[in-house]
Amino acid sequence: MTWWRDAAIYQVYLRSFADGNGDGVGDIAGLESRLGYLRDLGVDALWINPWYASPMADGGYDVADYRAVDPSFGTLGEAERLIAAAHRHGLRVIVDLVPNHTSDQHPWFQEALRAGRGSPARERFHFRDGTNNWQSRFGGPAWSQVDDGQWYLHLFDSSQPDLNWDHPDVRAEFESILRFWLDRGVDGFRIDVAARLVKQVGLPDKRGLFEGVPTFEDADDEPDKDRPEVHGIYRDWRRVLGEYGPDRVFVGEIWVRDPERFAKYLRPDELHTAFNFAFLKCAWDAGALRAVIDRTLATHATVGAPATWVLSNHDVTRHVTRYGRKDSAFMKREHGVPADLALGVRRARAAALLSMALPGGVYVYQGDELGLPEVFDLPDELREDPVFRRTGGLDLGRDGCRVPLPWDGEEPPFAFGTGGSWLPQPPEWRELTAARQLGDPDSVLSLYRLALRVRRDEAALGDGGMRWLDAGPGVLAFERDPGFACVVNLTDEDIAVPEGEPLVASAPLAGGRLPADAAVWLRTAS
Ligand code: NOJ
Repeated sequence: MTWWRDAAIYQVYLRSFADGNGDGVGDIAGLESRLGYLRDLGVDALWINPWYASPMADGGYDVADYRAVDPSFGTLGEAERLIAAAHRHGLRVIVDLVPNHTSDQHPWFQEALRAGRGSPARERFHFRDGTNNWQSRFGGPAWSQVDDGQWYLHLFDSSQPDLNWDHPDVRAEFESILRFWLDRGVDGFRIDVAARLVKQVGLPDKRGLFEGVPTFEDADDEPDKDRPEVHGIYRDWRRVLGEYGPDRVFVGEIWVRDPERFAKYLRPDELHTAFNFAFLKCAWDAGALRAVIDRTLATHATVGAPATWVLSNHDVTRHVTRYGRKDSAFMKREHGVPADLALGVRRARAAALLSMALPGGVYVYQGDELGLPEVFDLPDELREDPVFRRTGGLDLGRDGCRVPLPWDGEEPPFAFGTGGSWLPQPPEWRELTAARQLGDPDSVLSLYRLALRVRRDEAALGDGGMRWLDAGPGVLAFERDPGFACVVNLTDEDIAVPEGEPLVASAPLAGGRLPADAAVWLRTAS
């Protein structure tokens, strides 16, 4: 079986993972120094957020050169060594591909600016003499004007001009970029904004418009989303990947609600996997979660693709905080909504066991394994996310889930590096450092290490089927072959646990009963 059908994949937000050169920004050297930690955590692969040359207007999702590594992260040679070192640690490497837009510093855009209206260079982007009513996903208009009066489209920041995917140069260039990184040994690509590359011809106005703070998903049938022609791009790319054997993988960032439309991206000749945002967004509610799980498995079964289970990433409010809120469903970053973090951590521990026990692959966003909460009280002047600026501060943006990791020690920067950290860490994170948690068998980190090991080595979870057990309202219970059960208690009271030998529990069982907001894995037969 191919590895990606049931892999545990760790997301490395490089700027905030570990700093090797003391400039306060995470980098490849820092990541390399912590590969042992990731191997011992028990994950199978890393997804590394963009490390390409970039002005960093959007944390590296504004790429100026897709074949170079940004100096703040290291060099191309270091990236090549990192890939090899990760492989020696038994870790595959997935890099981030950003095909919807470039940076405004990319040579093509600079050429387009110089060449002027009507020039072939402008045809690689969406230049027009007027605008339509589209809004940027980061807030504000999706159009900016250049000196000669023309406008260009940017679905995100004005520094991220959208590429024109009808242009043959764009198609050829990205196939060449795929090969460039495949030739350097990467095991796959995470595809940014995968449903929006192709726009409806003529760029017609939208019917539904958001105002102020954008939500995460608009309707599926907007003129800049889920156009049927996008599938041809992925069929072409799959052919390129296929030349490198069956072990290279695509994972799509696809915010498409409709399960049938979503599944189309996962047909056997397109992408292998996609993030499960329906699961990420779901409230801590047994009925809602069960419905999402059923729908996920049914949808993926239609195309033979493995599901993925995702709780957090670098764009959303950390789930410890979300699960500590009265309304724990996620639609947008609701800053300032109170959260009971102790409750959030209990639920996050249970959710980790749920996500790792379900059929398919699982993602861990850096810091999930430490139980980190969202950070809200960052000084405005240090916030870097363009969302903050473009919404006039209405949405504080995503910096609060990107605060550098606490590794060791009693004071910030907690061994993140020797030169501070680009965003300040809360002093109370001294309780949450990796070093401290390693010494505590009851910590979130110890739970992740145990669960990931059991998932891989003992219970052989991952791909395959599952059957729901009847455990009453508010309880999610299912079994998997051979002889495994997972029970998650989402009621307010402790419950009896079905017969079996406990393998991992997110909270201590008292008198054989499972507390509220806890989960347990059981060996039910030999
Ligand atoms: C999705 C990425 O995850 C996010 O961080 C980025 O800002 C946008 N795409 C635009 O590239």
